[in-house]
Amino acid sequence: MKGCTEILVGAQWGDEGKGRVVDALAGKTDVIVRYQGGANAGHTVIVGSEKHVFHLLPSGMLYTGKLCIIGNGVVVDPGQLLFELGELQAQGKDRARLVVSRDAHVVLPYHKVLDGADEAFRGKERAIGTTKRGIGPCYVDKYNRMGITMGDLANPEILREKLSQNVNMKNMLLTRIYGMTPLPFDSMYQEALEWGAKLAPYLGDASLEVHKALEKGKGVLLEGAQGTLLDVDFGTYPYVTSSNPTAAGGCIGAGVGPTRISRVIGVVKAYCTRVGEGPFPTEDFGEWGEYLRVKGGEFGATTGRPRRCGWLDMVALRYAVRINGLGVLALTKLDVLSGLEEIQVALEYSVDGTTCGEFTPSASFLESAEPLYTSLPGWKEDISGCRSFEELPQEAQNYVRFIEEQAGVPVGLIGVGPGREETILRGF
Ligand code: IMP
Repeated sequence: MKGCTEILVGAQWGDEGKGRVVDALAGKTDVIVRYQGGANAGHTVIVGSEKHVFHLLPSGMLYTGKLCIIGNGVVVDPGQLLFELGELQAQGKDRARLVVSRDAHVVLPYHKVLDGADEAFRGKERAIGTTKRGIGPCYVDKYNRMGITMGDLANPEILREKLSQNVNMKNMLLTRIYGMTPLPFDSMYQEALEWGAKLAPYLGDASLEVHKALEKGKGVLLEGAQGTLLDVDFGTYPYVTSSNPTAAGGCIGAGVGPTRISRVIGVVKAYCTRVGEGPFPTEDFGEWGEYLRVKGGEFGATTGRPRRCGWLDMVALRYAVRINGLGVLALTKLDVLSGLEEIQVALEYSVDGTTCGEFTPSASFLESAEPLYTSLPGWKEDISGCRSFEELPQEAQNYVRFIEEQAGVPVGLIGVGPGREETILRGF
């Protein structure tokens, strides 16, 4: 929408299909901003027969004339960013203008090594199942006020000072605590200087860019990565990522005041998935979980790991509506449910014999929560060709209406296939 800022968030555990929703909406907006997370994300966009997976670039990059921004809240792996940019350039598809916040923090090689070492230290029992992209250790440095920003990369003297301090400290950790070999400073410094030189043309004041666009009456879409239940404050801690994927994180990570937000869009998959460890009440370990994994192609876009699968959890979705102030839902992968006799949906949990309709993100609460399901009739028809709500089989319409009633929020977009055009818009 023109002159407005909208925030798009994942309403579950990530992998809801945010990339395809951003791509479907990007034509109607002018500026697309990634506001948190880093290369742990994997946003898939399918246009015709081409598939693009963006880990760091905003999902609007394929549109001519858009402004795509990597906000201050993102942690940037410069090698990965250059790789993604290079791929688009080689295909002649770098159609948008890219601005990377000078204040975004840089993921350095020691962050990735520490990510792996921390996981190994936690052991099998307590591992989080991170993507090992260095996300947690990079945010730790940011909040410990010793991080290196994208702006620092373009300043050789500041970079040398900050990097040598960091490498010294990390090497003490690696050698004395983890018994690992130290990392070399010189080659890391050289590589960081090269990143700085290559990325200097893209560096800018991201928040100011957004502000100027809004002042000109342009539309801004803030694109969240991961999902509500992976939020470091509101997710299933400690099995979370190290940033705030929830809507409030959009204001911080893009430098936009809350009064400029007009709407929050929640992306929700027609069933649930999770990668990595942590509680997942509606996980199905049997044939239905396997059915959803295979039919939905549920394998991580970043790590290739098989995703854990299960039925839609309305207790968790109502929580996502509350925490994010969702005004509308984008329902993805409805086509994956075609062919099922019945569809299960969890409406409440039973916890130690007590019925509970409120989600509490504590791991111990969720581990003892037994979902109480209701069953809805499925549909047999292939729905990938439907382009209006009325074309959907009655049972599919009923499923969507049921979600709206239970969530208390309308469903404004329905994904009936992975392609850009396989989308039904309902007053969006
Ligand atoms: P990290 O973000 O790599 O530290 O991983 C922390 C947790 O978040 C792990 O369970 C990951 O599997 C999960 N995670 C991180 N990024 C994504 C994502 O984009 N989609 C789904 N899960 C994610």
